[in-house]
Amino acid sequence: MTSIAIIGTGKIGSALATRFHAAGMTAVVANSRGPASLVEFTARFAGSIRAVDVEEALQSDIVILAMHFDSVASAVERSSKWGGRIVVDATNAINFPDFTPRDLKGKLSTEVISELVPGARVVKAFNTLVAPILAADPKTAAGRRVLFLSGDHADANREIANLIDRLGFFPIDLGSLRAGAPMQQFSGPLAKMNLLKD
Ligand SMILES: NC(=O)c1ccc[n+]([C@@H]2O[C@H](COP(=O)([O-])OP(=O)(O)OC[C@H]3O[C@@H](n4cnc5c(N)ncnc54)[C@H](OP(=O)(O)O)[C@@H]3O)[C@@H](O)[C@H]2O)c1
Repeated sequence: MTSIAIIGTGKIGSALATRFHAAGMTAVVANSRGPASLVEFTARFAGSIRAVDVEEALQSDIVILAMHFDSVASAVERSSKWGGRIVVDATNAINFPDFTPRDLKGKLSTEVISELVPGARVVKAFNTLVAPILAADPKTAAGRRVLFLSGDHADANREIANLIDRLGFFPIDLGSLRAGAPMQQFSGPLAKMNLLKD
């Protein structure tokens, strides 16, 4: 069975754990403070979400990065062997506290993340909806909530589209990072776009 980790247990990590739990799917979670700090968190998702340390989370087949863009380097440096595993970039590159897009000198934020996880197949996903919307039931009377994804490995995109579908959302694969990420990333036209597919 494919193992899945969510690294980051803040607003987006919590929203994802909520959806995994509701879909009856299992995942491990990790934060910077260790599993002992996550007893209350995992109690909300008993049977589906288990807390581990970051080192263990980084061994999963699919690793979802649900932390601030600037925190990623220190989190992923504890794994050097990616060997084609999938890393899902849910981050937005933002300057705090003024909430402006980070100037990455022509690079896409997910390209910066990709350099930190050499050999991984990186997919950008779960970054377009605000956390309370991501946490809400994606199946509504008007249709399924849409989640966008993009990445340079079509097989990894398919795998994450399938995961998104199992979580109850309607996946839309935008293609390569250069095609999709500029639309998905902070200040792009799909950022905060809350669409329903009937
Ligand atoms: N909030 C939103 O509505 C929203 C929407 C779209 C995209 N995003 C993006 O999603 C990402 C997460 O945002 P958020 O709002 O969920 O942030 P958040 O609530 O501040 O949570 C950040 C999480 O990252 C963990 N973390 C930080 N450094 C770490 C490390 N070195 N190793 C492991 N875990 C680490 C923190 O753990 P500790 O608490 O233990 O430090 C915390 O659980 C950001 O890139 C943000 O731009 C957010």
